[in-house]
Amino acid sequence: MRQFSLFTVSLSSLFLLLIPHETPSTVTALYPDLTNTTCKQCAEKSTAFNYDFCTSSLQAIPVSHVTNLQGLALIAMELTLENATNTISNIEKMIGAGEFDPFALGCLKDCLELYGEGVSMLVDSIQVFWWEQYDAANLLLRTVLETAATCEEGFKEKAGEVSPLSVENYDLYQLAAIALCITDLLSPALDSDSS
Ligand SMILES: *[C@@H]1O[C@H](CO)[C@@H](O)[C@H](O)[C@H]1NC(C)=O
Ligand SMILES: *[C@@H]1O[C@H](CO)[C@@H](O)[C@H](O)[C@H]1NC(C)=O
Repeated sequence: MRQFSLFTVSLSSLFLLLIPHETPSTVTALYPDLTNTTCKQCAEKSTAFNYDFCTSSLQAIPVSHVTNLQGLALIAMELTLENATNTISNIEKMIGAGEFDPFALGCLKDCLELYGEGVSMLVDSIQVFWWEQYDAANLLLRTVLETAATCEEGFKEKAGEVSPLSVENYDLYQLAAIALCITDLLSPALDSDSS
């Protein structure tokens, strides 16, 4: 737990470095709807991509922070990281509550491990993104996307089992998909089959 709140602290300071010091009005004039156009482009590339989720997640960030695609990608990665970190504490609570049958408990423990790996891959993806290694970031984000699917599928292995993490897995998938799509846009060579 402690280790995850430390992530958050160091990430917020990272975030401050990221924000260019431009006045909001200049930025609004120059970048009227980068969020919307990017979400639209991504939705056109993949049917699994949820446009409304994309705009509402990214619009939670003040527009003055979003000046280019790189900035938007970092915001998407940080939102994904924050989300996955919150989900880890939710899974820990679920495991602690003792309300699940042994099968579901096993799945929850698998998911906890998967999300732990997901969080470290997200930290790595932010790091390599800073070094402009967009293809390496792309690969990591693709694996994070699979994390969500793998966690969800675990519960489906037993007939009648309902995943208590469907919403969390959906959110992780959609958030990572935003970041993945933007790294695709930044490295045209990777852009051939992204769905
Ligand atoms: C972006 O899209 C949202 C919802 O889809 C809409 O409410 C908003 O006005 C759009 N913003 C711009 C600048 O086009
Ligand atoms: C994850 O992000 C989604 C979309 O922004 C939000 O609705 C949800 O509450 C977040 N979940 C957690 C556990 O932080």
